[in-house]
Amino acid sequence: MKKLLAIVVAIIFILGLASFGFAGTEKCDKCHKGEKAVDKMIAKKKITTAADLTKALREGPKAGMHKKLTDGEIKSAAEALKLK
Ligand code: HEC
Repeated sequence: MKKLLAIVVAIIFILGLASFGFAGTEKCDKCHKGEKAVDKMIAKKKITTAADLTKALREGPKAGMHKKLTDGEIKSAAEALKLK
């Protein structure tokens, strides 16, 4: 029985890690690929902080494209992009 428990715990742990992996820029990457990858976009737009990113996505000329993103998704993208 102990072995089974260990396996169950291991599976939960792995699933937990996997769901962490879904954060980051996963949401952005649906639209941002290749030349338009988010890391290239922020370099081009000189976005260096999470606040800049939020501002660009909420109030910028392309706000309409980013309406469906939640604050959490923008935040996790900012973290993945290592913005302050
Ligand atoms: C529904 C598709 C879509 C999603 C999802 C999306 N974007 Fe965009 N984004 C666009 C399009 C289209 C543009 C305009 C591209 C261009 O100018 O060539 C754009 C432009 C941008 C720009 C430049 C903004 C500006 O002012 O010109 C940034 C930065 C950006 N996206 C970041 C992100 C980040 C970060 C995410 C994820 C949190 C994200 N995008 C998710 C479609 C999307």
